[in-house]
Amino acid sequence: MNRENLPEFYANVIDSVGDGVIVIDRNGCVVLMNPVAEEISGVSRRTSSGQPFSYIFKADEELVAMAQKSSDTGMSISDHENIVLRRGTRSIPLSVTASPLLLADGVRAGTIVLLRDLTNIRELEEAVRKADRLSALGTLAAGLAHEIKNPLGGIRGAAQLLEMELAADDELRECTQVVLKEVQRVNRIVEELLDLSAPRALDLKGVNLHKILAHIVFLQQQATDGQRIVFHRNLDPSLPPVRGDEGKLTQLFLNLIKNGVEAAGEGGSVEISSRIVSEYSLSQRGERPSRMVAIEVADSGTGISTEVMERLFTPFYTTKERGTGLGLAICQKIVAEHNGMIRVESQPGRGALFTVLLPLTQ
Ligand SMILES: Nc1ncnc2c1ncn2[C@@H]1O[C@H](COP(=O)(O)OP(=O)(O)OP(=O)(O)O)[C@@H](O)[C@H]1O
Ligand SMILES: [Mg+2]
Repeated sequence: MNRENLPEFYANVIDSVGDGVIVIDRNGCVVLMNPVAEEISGVSRRTSSGQPFSYIFKADEELVAMAQKSSDTGMSISDHENIVLRRGTRSIPLSVTASPLLLADGVRAGTIVLLRDLTNIRELEEAVRKADRLSALGTLAAGLAHEIKNPLGGIRGAAQLLEMELAADDELRECTQVVLKEVQRVNRIVEELLDLSAPRALDLKGVNLHKILAHIVFLQQQATDGQRIVFHRNLDPSLPPVRGDEGKLTQLFLNLIKNGVEAAGEGGSVEISSRIVSEYSLSQRGERPSRMVAIEVADSGTGISTEVMERLFTPFYTTKERGTGLGLAICQKIVAEHNGMIRVESQPGRGALFTVLLPLTQ
């Protein structure tokens, strides 16, 4: 049995199913694979036909074990949680069902494996979880920020008055300077918070990302003067302008590069790369993958532990003495406003890699 000798109608039915369908014969060899299964597994039906299922999926032990178990017991087995295929750098979470293929007389002719790609569902779940966290905290924070702004204005005014009263060489001027500087700091935090919870409309135009990145690197080089931090740039010169809000995109990459610099520390390095990618996980099945710009910020710091990773985009979560913990929450918001995505990869001890994906056409 293979696709060629199925009546055309049934072959079309199987090819049109939105899930991956793989049929395995009694000897454990693949006899049929529909296009979605080809896409998920990264193997064409021509190469897979007649090959042992366990060979085609040799890297995916759990999947092979499921098919084997269904074949041994004659039972239908499902797993909607634990199966993840790894294809190069991609991980594809799957929902899998393995069922016996029964002929009309009840004789078992093999096993049918159904694969559903959960990538989009998992990403949506994660986005909802983060949005929930943000909105609860955001409401509270916005209220607080409003309350803080007024007394803050009073403190600043009073400190400025006090300063005017003091003689030019009065030692107390140092104190008024501290008050004014710290007021400015609190004010910045409050502004960021308000921005996070009550977004302003985007000012969209064609933005040259390389210009923004060069500017940020220049400023960071000045700010870290004295520390030996090396900046590498690996930019694709053919990168077209991206439609976005220049101010917000500057803030986004400044926050990421600043984090990279802070993580890299004395003697470390930060690498900024740009390239054009085709993003499969964002496209609907059957559509062409969308073209996106990927900007990566990688640092040579100590990386991010699993505990920190879990809380990374939560407002106010910081491990730094003088940090606000708002940097990444703001980044995430800006990326979402531009219909993009932000990803983090890190192996503890080997630095962190933040990737921002922005759509080329909006
Ligand atoms: N490149 C990185 N390497 C290692 N840890 C990081 C990196 N970027 C962020 N983190 C961790 O995530 C936390 C939150 O980062 P975020 O930018 O939101 O706030 P912050 O940097 O602590 O404060 P602020 O941005 O206000 O200066 C950091 O305190 C740090 O623990
Ligand atoms: Mg930061």
